[in-house]
Amino acid sequence: MIKIAPSILTADFAHLGAEVGAITDAGADWLHIDVMDGRFVPNLTMGPVIVRSLRPLTDLTIDAHLMVEQADALIPAFVEAGTDRITVHVEACTHLHRTIQHIKGQGAKAGVALNPATPLVTLEDILPDIDLVLIMSVNPGFGGQSFIPQTTAKIRRLRSMLAGQGVEGVEIQVDGGIKAHNIAMVAQAGATVAVVGSAVFNAQASVAENIARLRAACVG
Ligand code: DX5
Ligand code: ZN
Repeated sequence: MIKIAPSILTADFAHLGAEVGAITDAGADWLHIDVMDGRFVPNLTMGPVIVRSLRPLTDLTIDAHLMVEQADALIPAFVEAGTDRITVHVEACTHLHRTIQHIKGQGAKAGVALNPATPLVTLEDILPDIDLVLIMSVNPGFGGQSFIPQTTAKIRRLRSMLAGQGVEGVEIQVDGGIKAHNIAMVAQAGATVAVVGSAVFNAQASVAENIARLRAACVG
């Protein structure tokens, strides 16, 4: 069963503790933290202080997605605040191998994210060193965008690439535009973690109802 990682980017920040409690109680698997610096992406969001505040409220895996230009300097503070997994963008890392070693040296799991137009071949020589690949299915920076259709084939190709290299245990995370109508499709293609923002946090239904709907969509 694909893991569900709600992104708090779309949550109600005036009641963030309650929102994290709600996804925890609703049986989410991970808590996805979208970190944006206003330079790598045209939006500015949150930092380690948010993780520090939320850490005591949940036992969910805290999964930080760093959409930032200078990830290396931020890694120790995120781990110290209680982050379990840190994902950096291949497009933003001049020395990606060193950054991955830095994340793992701090005791966190290391992931690499690819923007929609970035080819899988950029991962070829780092796959054996990482714990997760994040395939962006929207252009990074905002929640509530539409799923980019060619992402499904990219997930399939990544799964084949991992198998071809004999690399096991790497999570395939898909991020952006995931809803009840397409989560089974990406799971079938090989995604093992789905980041879901606006399909979890919205005015149409409760967090619990939305997560239950996503789970039900994956069955069968
Ligand atoms: C976008 C973020 C995504 C986004 C997902 O830059 O990385 O995690 O918040 O939100 P939805 O599910 O609404 O597309
Ligand atoms: Zn994200």
